[in-house]
Amino acid sequence: MIREITQEEKQSFNEYIAKIKEINSKSLNIPLAHVHSFGCQQNVSDGEKIKGMLAQMGYGFTSDTAMADIIIFNTCAVRENAEDRVFGNIGALKKLKQQNKGLIIAVGGCMVQQEHIAKRIRQSYPQVDIIFGTHVMHELPRMIYEKLAENKRQVNIPDMDGVIAEGLPVIRESKVKASVPIMYGCNNFCSYCIVPYVRGRERSRRPGEVISEVESLIKEGYKEILLLGQNVNSYGKEHNFSFARLLSALDNFEGEYKISFMTSHPKDCTFELIDTIADSKHISYHLHLPVQSGSNRILKLMNRHYDMAHYLELIEYAKKRIPDVALTTDIIVGFPGETYEDFKKTLELMEKVRYDSAYTFIYSKREGTVAAKMDDPVSDEEKGRWFRQLLDVQNAIGETAYQRFVGKTVRVLCEGIGRTADGLMTGHTRQGVIVDFPGDNGSIGKYYDVKVTRALPWAVTGELVGNAD
Ligand code: SAH
Ligand code: SF4
Ligand code: F3S
Repeated sequence: MIREITQEEKQSFNEYIAKIKEINSKSLNIPLAHVHSFGCQQNVSDGEKIKGMLAQMGYGFTSDTAMADIIIFNTCAVRENAEDRVFGNIGALKKLKQQNKGLIIAVGGCMVQQEHIAKRIRQSYPQVDIIFGTHVMHELPRMIYEKLAENKRQVNIPDMDGVIAEGLPVIRESKVKASVPIMYGCNNFCSYCIVPYVRGRERSRRPGEVISEVESLIKEGYKEILLLGQNVNSYGKEHNFSFARLLSALDNFEGEYKISFMTSHPKDCTFELIDTIADSKHISYHLHLPVQSGSNRILKLMNRHYDMAHYLELIEYAKKRIPDVALTTDIIVGFPGETYEDFKKTLELMEKVRYDSAYTFIYSKREGTVAAKMDDPVSDEEKGRWFRQLLDVQNAIGETAYQRFVGKTVRVLCEGIGRTADGLMTGHTRQGVIVDFPGDNGSIGKYYDVKVTRALPWAVTGELVGNAD
């Protein structure tokens, strides 16, 4: 069942926050929190809400775990190495806990939503005081209070399907870029993927909530809004309000700003969506369209519901309609049963599409998924060789991909100091490409027209045209 949190829940949320604030106000120094989010942008966005709640409870923040009074890890389960990293990090806190008995350690997010992981943390990591799943972030104030006031270990990992908690406080990492989740969970059950199991069923925020949040962010001065969801193209089913329609609604505010989004699933990405981007004033010309494999046979086994013909049709249309479109993708190498013949089809696809960049992963077996039961005869060494071959192919494409911008004038928001050479500032084009150009600290926050003079594999550089406005 999908539901929004009730008035009573909101009231109890506020009461617990007030109680913790009262306790914290008696402390000699402002108590400090360390929050670290692993994994995807959704998790980072959840982390910003965890910080928002902690700030209301009277905590300050520190990047140093040794200084912290409360440490919260918001974890990711997408691949085994992500999980190993978290276990390493939790293990390292044992010493801190011995030195500071009052330290509270909380571990939440996607990893703990898996039974075997929650069990392992409960049994083998006694230093962890609070374990919270992905559906109960709004109950953190109660859990922290009960730990603080009653010194009781808190384990709260309901396997329910998705609450939407509107109105949680948030502390954003940046003053110019803001992430806005538009939906939660996933219904796609790609056969390799753990996300639907740990994040629950797909559910969209009401269009009115999203539109008014984006409008206020733009009024506050945010220049780039990143809309988040595991499959934004299927946004709004329960509200009868398509993603293309949402984008159109967000394109009409006053002022200069950019709306970007991730992630698009090729099975739900429509020509209408591409038209909406092409005809918009503010939508990013960047399409992240994860393909995972270039082999139809593997795509079927992955349960992706599209084939190469459809995918390439979308890519061709995007290239035709969207000026200098930036295309990026995700690829999995070594899916169970993948042969070298299948893998070669992925390489051919890379050559055909010529992505600006690709996020490439070696398949990682996830307990409980359909692919985990499939035969996986190819050795890790062989998969490693394929993986390096894929990187070589993509790196060679990336070397020249940005040549298409040379000689063109691009509009850029100055965001900070550039990395290509001294004296250069940096920003992103509408395609999301990094562009470095002359300027100084006074340029930050202003828009410039920059004529691109040089293309590097990861950025372009250029000179100013006219004045800032
Ligand atoms: N919802 C997004 C991506 C979510 S996870 C989408 O559908 O595209 C981000 C990426 O991690 C995926 O695109 C996939 O390439 C990779 N990934 C997911 N599960 C994986 C696994 N078990 N092993 C290796 N890579 C995986
Ligand atoms: Fe995972 Fe597929 Fe859902 Fe993406 S669409 S989160 S890859 S199940
Ligand atoms: Fe990881 Fe959970 Fe995101 S598994 S990729 S943090 S949704």
